[in-house]
Amino acid sequence: MSRLNAVVSDDRRVPREALRSTGYAVYGAAIGILALYTLPLLLITAVLTLVRVGRPMALPMLRWVRRLADLERSRLRRLGHEIESPYHGPDVEAEPSLRGALADPETRRDLSWLFMHATWGLIVGIVAIQLPFTAVRDITYPIWWTTISPDQQEILNGTVEAATWSAAMIGPIAGVAVFALWLIGAPKLCELQARPGVNLLGPDPDADLSERVARLTATRAAALDAHAVELRRIERALHDGAQNRIVGVAVLVGAARREVERNPERADEILARAQDTVEDALAELRAVVRSILPPVLENRGLEGALSALASDCSVPCKVTVDVPDRCPASVEATAYFVVAESLTNVAKHSRASRAEVEVRLRGGRLHVSVTDDGRGGADAANGSGLAGIGRRVEAHDGDVTVTSPAGGPTEIRVELPCGS
Ligand SMILES: Nc1ncnc2c1ncn2[C@@H]1O[C@H](COP(=O)(O)OP(=O)(O)OP(=O)(O)O)[C@@H](O)[C@H]1O
Ligand SMILES: [Mg+2]
Repeated sequence: MSRLNAVVSDDRRVPREALRSTGYAVYGAAIGILALYTLPLLLITAVLTLVRVGRPMALPMLRWVRRLADLERSRLRRLGHEIESPYHGPDVEAEPSLRGALADPETRRDLSWLFMHATWGLIVGIVAIQLPFTAVRDITYPIWWTTISPDQQEILNGTVEAATWSAAMIGPIAGVAVFALWLIGAPKLCELQARPGVNLLGPDPDADLSERVARLTATRAAALDAHAVELRRIERALHDGAQNRIVGVAVLVGAARREVERNPERADEILARAQDTVEDALAELRAVVRSILPPVLENRGLEGALSALASDCSVPCKVTVDVPDRCPASVEATAYFVVAESLTNVAKHSRASRAEVEVRLRGGRLHVSVTDDGRGGADAANGSGLAGIGRRVEAHDGDVTVTSPAGGPTEIRVELPCGS
C-alpha cells in the first residue's frame, strides 16, 4: 500500500515539477523580453554618451539594468539558488561617473548577464513554453484536422503533410512524444535558462578571493604585530621583574660574602633577604610563564580554566561552556585571555552586580560572550585591554563586538574560527 502511494505521489511529482518549471520559464522569458528591449536602448545610450548628449540617460539606464538583475536574482532564489547580492555600494547613482560605473565589476557582470538573458535565456524560455502547447496541439490534431483548409494540413511544424486520415494520426503520436519531452525536459530547460544568472549575478568569485587575500594579509600583519607586542610584554616582565630581583640577589650574596668573616650575624640577615628575593623572582617567573600559555588550560580544559577565572572575579559570575570537542590550543588561549581581560574590566570598571560568561562552539566557530549588568561605557580608546582583545582576535581572523551603551549593560562578543 505504501509502495503504491509512493508510486502515485512520484507520478504526480513529475508533471507538477514540469508545470512549476514552465511557470518559472515564463517568468524568466518575461524578464528576457525586458532585457531584449533594454539592449538597443543601452546601445543608443552608449553611443549618445560618447558625444556627451546621453550622459543624463546613462546612470538611469544602469540603474534599470540593476533592477532587472535584481528581478532575476529573486527568481533564481525562488528556484532554490543561493544568490547573494554582489553590490557593495548603495546604488549605481553613487558612482561618480559612467566610466566609474563601467569599471565596476558588478555592473560589467550585470551587463554580460543582460546580453545572455536577452538571447539565450529568452530562447530557452520560449522553447520551454512552446513544448506543452505543441504537445496539446499535436495530440488533439485529429479532432480539428478536418476543419482546417487542405493547404494548412501539416504537422510537426510543417515537416509532415497530413493530407490523409492516417497521416493525421502521426499528430497524437508526435504529441505524446513532445509531452514526454516536456515532462522530462522542462526542469532541465529551466536550469539552462537560469545558468547565466547563477554564474554572473552572484558575487564575483575572483573579487571574493582577492578580498579574502587582502583580509588575510591584514590579519597576518595583525598576528605578527600581536606576536611582537607579546614578546615585548614578556621581555618587559622579565626585565623589570625577575631580572631585577636576580640582580638584587647577586648584590645581596656579594654583600653577605663580605660580611661572613667580619659579622656572621649580619651576613645571615643579608642571606635571608637574598632568599626572599629569590622566592619573589621565582613567583614572578611563574606569573610570566602562566601568562604565555596558562597551564590551567592544559590541565583543566577551557571550561575548568574559565570557571577558575570566574571564581576569582569579585563580581558573581555564571559560566556556561558548550564546547563538545577541544579547540586548537591557540584558540583556547585567546578565548581564555578574552574572558580574563573582560572579567578584570567587569571588576574594575563596571559596578555590576552580576556577570555571565558563555562559550559555545557552533558551525566550526567558537562564540565567546561576556556580559555584565553594570553601568556600561566600555571604550577601547580609553585603555589597552580592549584593544589588546581586538588584536589577539584579529590575529585569528575572528570578530569582536563591544556593546556597551551608557547605563549598561555591557557585552563583549567574540567569534573565533576553530578550524578543527
Ligand atoms: N565592563 C565594563 N563596564 C564599564 N566600563 C568598562 C568595562 N570595560 C571597560 N570599560 C571602560 O572602557 C575603558 C577601556 O577598557 P580597557 O580594558 O581597554 O582599559 P583599562 O581596563 O582601563 O586598562 P588596561 O589597559 O589595564 O586593561 C576602561 O577604562 C573603562 O572605562
Ligand atoms: Mg582592562
